[in-house]
Amino acid sequence: MDVKTAIIGGTGVYDPDILQEIRDEKVSTPYGDVVLRIGKHQDRLVAFMNRHGEGHSIPPNKVNYRANIDALKRLGVQNILATAAVGSLNPAMEPGHLIFVDQFLDFTKFREQTFFAGGSAGVIHTDMTEPYCPRLRESLSQAAGNLGLIHHKAGVYVCTEGPRFETAAEVKMYRMLGGDLVGMTGVPEAPLAREAGICYSTIAMVTNFAAGISADRLSHQEVVDTMIQNGENIRRLLMQVIEQVEEDSTCTCAEST
Ligand code: HPA
Repeated sequence: MDVKTAIIGGTGVYDPDILQEIRDEKVSTPYGDVVLRIGKHQDRLVAFMNRHGEGHSIPPNKVNYRANIDALKRLGVQNILATAAVGSLNPAMEPGHLIFVDQFLDFTKFREQTFFAGGSAGVIHTDMTEPYCPRLRESLSQAAGNLGLIHHKAGVYVCTEGPRFETAAEVKMYRMLGGDLVGMTGVPEAPLAREAGICYSTIAMVTNFAAGISADRLSHQEVVDTMIQNGENIRRLLMQVIEQVEEDSTCTCAEST
């Protein structure tokens, strides 16, 4: 049986306990080795990858995004459900809400952004008009609706380099540019998945109002605590989507290069 669906667990989503018969798997890629877990949910094999490594030891700016996505490609994964803790710039998107983001604004600075880095890898420009898979986003919205979870079907995710949080002036600028949410990991994860022809979606969970919107100072602990408090909602959502998702995609995400 092939592994066609993968979960990338972000901050606060470290435990693949929704899966049964879990085993560790090491996948070698040209970008480095990746250790992940493979388990079963219902009759489906699912890969679970910890984005920040064991014990949250890898900061967002140091994640080996190319190795992670390449490893999932090598396993035959066609659908990625990624979780992400985000700060909110939009008063309608409150802590605890889920957003199935549809666009990103990239403010990262020092990351390897592409598999097509020239030389033998070639120079290919990938269409990024709609960076998140509309089919997966629709499945997520339906499942969240069935479960009665407060969710938003779309939102613009601003990706910063991190690992520091933003200044209040940066947050003001991101709002003026049309951002709804801010996080540190969505890019280059989403565009690399598209380059690899894998359908990709983000389940963004608001953990806090962003700097300057919130009256309080931000802390990583607050982010982790909110993710853990709301972890059960994400687990229920993941289980339902894994059961329902069409494993062999019928959309055009694989045809963008
Ligand atoms: N900024 C950036 N990343 C985040 C935030 C934030 O406010 N909250 C959770 N991840």
